[in-house]
Amino acid sequence: MIKNVLFVCLGNICRSPMAEFLFKDLVKKQNAEKEFYIESAATSDEEIGNPVHHGTKNVLERLNIDCKNKRARKIVKEDYFKFDYIIGMDEDNRRDLLRFFGGDKDKKVFCLLDFTETPRDIADPWWTGDFEKTYSDISFGLKNFFKYAQKK
Ligand code: 4NP
Repeated sequence: MIKNVLFVCLGNICRSPMAEFLFKDLVKKQNAEKEFYIESAATSDEEIGNPVHHGTKNVLERLNIDCKNKRARKIVKEDYFKFDYIIGMDEDNRRDLLRFFGGDKDKKVFCLLDFTETPRDIADPWWTGDFEKTYSDISFGLKNFFKYAQKK
């Protein structure tokens, strides 16, 4: 059965699109494209319709990953039914997701680093400016999530 994965952050221009495109790349390299459907979205209205932040774009371009067609979108109620894994980047995202969906009866809401042995927030590079730290945290989380999801 295909696993539907939605990565979520506050703006959907820095962290969650980085997770979306890195995970698509990882899944492709693992020959698992038929097993996953992957998107990303925002909890806020701030950046709706905007392209990926240049800090994230730079990281992805270096890896030959194209994200030019991505535009930020906000989560919608239907996402809870459409996706099997709804993965925020920090505890603020988790709180906003639970509030927006009115709970999490099917236990679909996670933070990306929950899948590692060191659960913690992924700092927002919008404020820190450190997209390399974001890249290393997100890559670490995605590798662990991939292993977790494949066993399910
Ligand atoms: P992101 O970063 O949640 O990782 O996409 C942010 C992008 C935009 C804003 C905040 C965080 N903003 O306030 O517009």
